[in-house]
Amino acid sequence: MNANINIVESITRIDNLPSLPAVVAEILRLSRSDDVSMEQLADVIQTDPALAAKLLRLVNSSLFGLSHEITSIRQAITLLGLRTVEMVAVGFALADAIGTRIDGGFDYEAFWRRSLATAVVARMLARKAGLGLAEEAFVAGLVTDLGMVAIWQGAPEIHKAIEELRTQTGRDTTEIETDLLGLTHARIGGDLLRRWELPDAICAAVSAHHGEELALLEGDSLALANVVHCAACVADVFCQEPDADALDRASAKCIERTAVDPDQLHELLRLVETHVRETAAMLSVPIGQMPDYTAMLDAAAEA
Ligand SMILES: [Fe+2]
Repeated sequence: MNANINIVESITRIDNLPSLPAVVAEILRLSRSDDVSMEQLADVIQTDPALAAKLLRLVNSSLFGLSHEITSIRQAITLLGLRTVEMVAVGFALADAIGTRIDGGFDYEAFWRRSLATAVVARMLARKAGLGLAEEAFVAGLVTDLGMVAIWQGAPEIHKAIEELRTQTGRDTTEIETDLLGLTHARIGGDLLRRWELPDAICAAVSAHHGEELALLEGDSLALANVVHCAACVADVFCQEPDADALDRASAKCIERTAVDPDQLHELLRLVETHVRETAAMLSVPIGQMPDYTAMLDAAAEA
């Protein structure tokens, strides 16, 4: 066990992270109540006009694929349902809060490219597989790598060492984290979200997004965690140079674990880049270069 207790304590201190935005805390409180009304939720979201505007842009984007424009939060709630709007609002507000803490020394573009790819792929996989947890999948995807931000905030020298070892050796990030810290960014992120009192299934999916801890889950939590784990594998493929073998492995995992068929998966992968770019524009975060699916298929054909 190489974990340095002091380092782990400094990483997992909640004050390394932004305080939970008041609007998110209030939305989460409403989501736990049985008799929340459309008006109550709309009023809370509209206390943050920037959040309300981003939420409307998202529901009008190609990710949602609606046939006519939604112009108000109330209309969004009527059409999409309370839970969908709650979850999307929470996801966007959290992404905003995390983003404001990221500055020099952290690969901002790679972080958002991977987070957004995980979010949009998880949402699409959940919908294609007929799970009723598409927005939870989106939120979990957005915050999967929150633990990396925590490591960087609490122990920047450890973050730097992990990145250097990953580049030099090609080993998995989670293996290196386990060697250096005794735990992974997945576990750290899930634990932090539990302290923020996000829904249990989202926290569990974040803890399990690299495959560890999946065996501990069952029912809806397992279904959500499987989708997020598969999405994280697909996101990795979209965040590196075109790699036909990596694409094959991620595709096989999606088909085996989420009941999406190969044709559905092919259609879904064709849309990833567009959805990621749209969502990045809404959140005003840079994502840098992103290989598209066609380029990956071309690389596979040439291999
Ligand atoms: Fe991760």
